[in-house]
Amino acid sequence: MPKQHTITLIPGDGIGPEVTNAVVRILEGAGAATGASFQWESYAVGAEAFERYKEYIPRELYHSIERNRVALKGPVTTPIGGGFASINVTLRKQFELYANFRPIRNLPGTQTRYPGVDLVIVRENTEDLYVGLEHEVVPGVVESLKIVTEKASTRIAKFAFEYARKHGRKKIHAIHKANIMKMSDGLFLRCARDVAKDFPEITYGEHIVDNTCMQLVMNPYQYDILVLPNLYGDIVSDLCAAFVGGLGLVPSANLGESCAIFEAVHGSAPDIAGQDKANPTALLQSAILMLHHIDEAEAANRIQNALDKVYAEKTALTRDVGGTAGTQAFANAVLAAL
Ligand code: NAI
Repeated sequence: MPKQHTITLIPGDGIGPEVTNAVVRILEGAGAATGASFQWESYAVGAEAFERYKEYIPRELYHSIERNRVALKGPVTTPIGGGFASINVTLRKQFELYANFRPIRNLPGTQTRYPGVDLVIVRENTEDLYVGLEHEVVPGVVESLKIVTEKASTRIAKFAFEYARKHGRKKIHAIHKANIMKMSDGLFLRCARDVAKDFPEITYGEHIVDNTCMQLVMNPYQYDILVLPNLYGDIVSDLCAAFVGGLGLVPSANLGESCAIFEAVHGSAPDIAGQDKANPTALLQSAILMLHHIDEAEAANRIQNALDKVYAEKTALTRDVGGTAGTQAFANAVLAAL
């Protein structure tokens, strides 16, 4: 039966509007082939929104996400060392999108140093140093608070273990620095250990984050699912993106009880913005996760097959993965393969 979906759309800035446009075209193509239809409620955020509405996140956007419970989001530039707070972090906190889910898998035909990687990163998304509680104690001394709670640590560990059980995954490593941050990362670990007891079929391990980076580069195949506090999750997932061809490829889902926001792992890439060079695959793979989330598996599978075909054929790939095609030409090739 044809299904109508209203989805909140945040094109973002930098390469955001280009990749979002490409992905929306592909989703509509897949929808036309499978009987799903999409209505988009589109909002500017960040500097652009402030110019128009004097708000970095327009109130209407909050209402739209509350109503639709699902959003597709392009990257947004965050000013460094001052200016407004990260739009991404604000949205994740506002909607308690506590789980940041990042599957890391090779697409067919991509030539990377590590073929056949299949890892899942589960990043806690609401606390740790990302609460942004910083202040100057006295001139020249700044304090930044790292918040770790039993509630959030248990919740993210449960998410990781339940995902593993549902999808037949065998191994989970909790990543930490509890040798130094004995209380905060110690609490994160204690919660993960407690949750692990309820999942005896899943092997549980713990690695210190610096060693994890080395282990990953030496042999990424030793890991299956990594569960990490916010900051380590942010850093380690960019490292893992390099295994499968870079930031142009890796998707993510920000999941909470009430709603979900799907976005690429990458940022606004100001170095290539507006040049039709960006690879929309990361956002497209995020959109595939979104389609599964809204029970549009047929459209999701069609896009995945078309994407796999375009990668296997290698004739319309973007520059970051060794091709010469532009953003929109790549999208046209995926549309043709649908
Ligand atoms: P970035 O991810 O924007 O770029 C890093 C490198 O990867 C650049 O060389 C860029 O050209 C390349 N790259 C990224 N996405 C690509 C794509 N789709 N296709 C081809 N190449 C791609 O990271 P950077 O430069 O550290 O951050 C730029 C801005 O983005 C910052 O303001 C940052 O705060 C923001 N940001 C936003 C995120 C979000 O909205 N979720 C996530 C990460 C960063």
